Amino acid sequence: MNSKLKVGVLFGGRSAEHEVSLVSAASIINALDKTKYDVLPIGISKEGRWLSAVNAIQLLKEHSGLENFPEHVLLPDPRKQSLVNISGAFPQNAEKVDVIFPVIHGTFGEDGTIQGLFELADIPYVGAGVLGSAVGMDKVISKQLLERADIPVTKGIWFLYSDFVKRPKHYLLDVEKKIKYPCFVKPPNQGSSVGISKAHNKKELIAAIHLAGEYDRKILIEKAVSRPREIEMSVMGNDEPIASLPGEIVPSNEFYDYDAKYVDGKSVAEIPAKLSPQLIKKIQACALKAYSVLDCSGLARVDFLLQKNGKFFLNEINTIPGFTSISMYPKLWEASGVSYSELLDKLIGYAFERYNDKKKLKTFYSPKTDWYKQS
Ligand SMILES: Nc1ncnc2c1ncn2[C@@H]1O[C@H](COP(=O)(O)OP(=O)(O)O)[C@@H](O)[C@H]1O
Ligand SMILES: [Mg+2]
Repeated sequence: MNSKLKVGVLFGGRSAEHEVSLVSAASIINALDKTKYDVLPIGISKEGRWLSAVNAIQLLKEHSGLENFPEHVLLPDPRKQSLVNISGAFPQNAEKVDVIFPVIHGTFGEDGTIQGLFELADIPYVGAGVLGSAVGMDKVISKQLLERADIPVTKGIWFLYSDFVKRPKHYLLDVEKKIKYPCFVKPPNQGSSVGISKAHNKKELIAAIHLAGEYDRKILIEKAVSRPREIEMSVMGNDEPIASLPGEIVPSNEFYDYDAKYVDGKSVAEIPAKLSPQLIKKIQACALKAYSVLDCSGLARVDFLLQKNGKFFLNEINTIPGFTSISMYPKLWEASGVSYSELLDKLIGYAFERYNDKKKLKTFYSPKTDWYKQS
């Protein structure tokens, strides 16, 4: 009998961070301990087609010939817990999956949508649940929740893009009065800096709002922290999470934009970040508090902007952070004594822990009478 766990690693997807996901997933698939796990790579194309193939990453990178491979779906039927091949006239080859490791950054992967499908399918999965994923993804909602919990965040205002188009002068004045220049303009539900701009004047602000409006119905405008140090921290666990040592990013551009993150290779990561032990403790406590306020589980990377005077702001929380072997999330754990493949074991362990905890909860209620039959 095969006692190995079948791990479905899910990557790609309908996201502006599709390419980043392919690179993260390749590292995870490579590092999963094959004596413990049977790895099932599951790729999702940019169009949303699921394919399960050993070389799915390569196929998605080439982005052609996908139609020659069988199409799969995950059924929302909890009795199946399986991936089903739907290419033929009759669905076939139900492939049982024990646990899913979603490595899809951004929309339809990190925002609670796909987590909803895992819940329906009743399959344990790595990372935050539906709510934690959704609030972690939305920078407007997470800012509101963090503010209420007295966690320091940068000052920001938001409005609907559709309202801005109707009353641009009103919103431009509002930004100039309450936020001022320079400011950051963000589509609140994106990642990897896609759609984000730093605006130094009205002309740039207008262009930045239109760009962000291509990605989201909401627009977030934030006060720019002047020359911040960018400090990141890894957190893992469920009800009793733990925080890693901090790391620091020194971006190659004016801010840490898409090119500085992935393309030009000139940004520098300092691990661990050179900070005083007291400041590390304060940032760790803040990261852990935010993790529970936002209902995270499994893992998250919590990012901060640190001013020269020692004051820091929580910038954002990423529930599916970059996960290549040189990414900050695993590197910070490595610096804290947890190797990359050990980390994967732990994250899979947390997936089962949360699944089993949830299983203990009742999802039924037995009324004393069959009152509903009469109504
Ligand atoms: N309020 C701010 N002040 C200064 N820099 C910022 C601010 N907001 C964002 N940035 C810069 O922009 C980068 C991307 O913004 P972030 O909110 O982290 O979006 P993403 O989710 O796309 O990573 C940050 O890493 C930082 O370099
Ligand atoms: Mg960021």
